[in-house]
Amino acid sequence: MPTVKLNNNLLMPTIGFGTYSLRDDVCKRSVAEAISVGYRLLDTASRYGNETFVGLGIKESGINRKDLFITSKIWVDDSGYEKTKTAFETSLKKLDTDYLDLYLIHRPRGDFKGSWRMMEELYKEGKIKAIGISNFTPAQYKDLMSAAKIKPAVNQIETHAFFQEVESYNYFKQTGVQTEAWAPFAEGRNGLFTNQTLADIGKKHNKSTAQVSLRWHYQRGIVAIPRTVQKAHMIENLNIFDFKLSESEMKAISALDLNTSQFPEWT
Ligand SMILES: NC(=O)c1ccc[n+]([C@@H]2O[C@H](COP(=O)([O-])OP(=O)(O)OC[C@H]3O[C@@H](n4cnc5c(N)ncnc54)[C@H](OP(=O)(O)O)[C@@H]3O)[C@@H](O)[C@H]2O)c1
Repeated sequence: MPTVKLNNNLLMPTIGFGTYSLRDDVCKRSVAEAISVGYRLLDTASRYGNETFVGLGIKESGINRKDLFITSKIWVDDSGYEKTKTAFETSLKKLDTDYLDLYLIHRPRGDFKGSWRMMEELYKEGKIKAIGISNFTPAQYKDLMSAAKIKPAVNQIETHAFFQEVESYNYFKQTGVQTEAWAPFAEGRNGLFTNQTLADIGKKHNKSTAQVSLRWHYQRGIVAIPRTVQKAHMIENLNIFDFKLSESEMKAISALDLNTSQFPEWT
């Protein structure tokens, strides 16, 4: 699995496994299966209510903890210096681990500067290998940085063929903050899996629209965390490293940008 080097030199897998909306035994089974087919990055959040089952899936897989890259996130209700420590410890307990590879501020709301101060301390204590943000615009990042000592390593944002976030992508690239794509398939909204441009490109390479999408993220230098409960899809989504999109194919996908979120209900 190719990796990217974060701004603190930590290596992060370029494809990970998303767990949003996976519950109970489905979550446990999917996480164990994902690890068995080669995923090493797992993405969860206290908000998903499934950290316990992610932890059980990890245990069931039998993998060594040090071989995984586990991400969780602090929810808005837990923002602030003191609350962040409690929320972090709860996440560790549920995941049954003694450290996180990446801990993110889920949304730029509430006292996120207080949260960041605590996250910096936990990072210095070695309890988190990298700290980052999610759903931050460049302006919100600058606001955080006005009070921060440590620069975020990652910004996890909604981005896919229909919402390419070009300004944010360029800004964070230049700033040395790794962009990570949530909903790398837009959850299939707006017909992503049957999109004609992606299908035509896929046909040339004998790849699916999902694989073309993930390859496009990869060639942009973006880490993607697709979610699936199907083992065949888990395997398919990892199988993107044996072909390359040409410049004109990358351009054709750029032209699909609608420059608008596919999740207006979350903004
Ligand atoms: N930071 C944030 O605010 C935030 C917000 C949302 C999500 N996230 C994270 O990002 C992860 C990914 O986003 P997401 O789960 O919303 O959506 P997504 O990964 O864009 O799409 C998931 C959907 O794609 C389908 N799918 C997966 N692989 C496929 C394939 N090869 N062919 C056809 N269909 C396929 C899945 O169905 P099947 O199960 O049937 O394959 C599922 O319905 C989340 O799980 C979560 O970890 C973060």
